[in-house]
Amino acid sequence: MKDYLVVLSGASGSAYGLRLVEQLLSSGASVTFIATQAGREVMAFETGFALPEGGAAEAVLRYLELPVSLPLRVVAPGELFDRVASGSSAPDAMIVCPASMGFVASVAAGLAADLPERAADVMLKECRPLVLVPRETPLSLIHLRNLTAVTEAGAVVVPAMPAFYQKPQSLDDMVNFVVGKVLDVLGVEHELYNRWGE
Ligand SMILES: Cc1cc2nc3c(=O)[nH]c(=O)nc-3n(C[C@H](O)[C@H](O)[C@H](O)COP(=O)(O)O)c2cc1C
Repeated sequence: MKDYLVVLSGASGSAYGLRLVEQLLSSGASVTFIATQAGREVMAFETGFALPEGGAAEAVLRYLELPVSLPLRVVAPGELFDRVASGSSAPDAMIVCPASMGFVASVAAGLAADLPERAADVMLKECRPLVLVPRETPLSLIHLRNLTAVTEAGAVVVPAMPAFYQKPQSLDDMVNFVVGKVLDVLGVEHELYNRWGE
């Protein structure tokens, strides 16, 4: 069974992260989910879903309308002793979705100051897949340099940029396009959008 780590940070677009968790679990994978403090707040503001302190995994699964028996772990960002903090038990891939520019900066600088930052640091040092889904506009030179630095270090940057050639009919279509692009990078099959020429 594939094992993924999804970090939801404080950029706009928490719907992307939640859809990603839903799709990875539906693909038969196990998922560890960490929301940063800002991520929790922006998610509650944008979606109305407030992550509870206790029973968080069940709450996420209920929100996603998935069976509560699915292998989801919800871990707090302060839990530095969690297994994703170690290269010896790193997940198959880590996805930061959405990724704030602050989070990208921390990864670029190698801060590793909390569990999500440490996990990203581990993925890079172990040469394992790290996918960052930034959402910001316009981009400053600092943002561009940090995105370049993480790419040079081995991360894949998949900006949250929905396309229009798919002729989206709804917000869901736009979310699905971005999440579908992330799943393409991970090699996870999906039917979130129609491929060009289909
Ligand atoms: C409503 C709201 C929307 C935000 N949207 C973005 C965004 O799209 N991109 C971004 O880089 N930061 C955004 N921010 C700022 C981040 O949340 C802030 O920089 C935070 O410190 C990031 O922390 P984190 O990386 O630990 O999650 C937003 C903040 C709020 C309150």
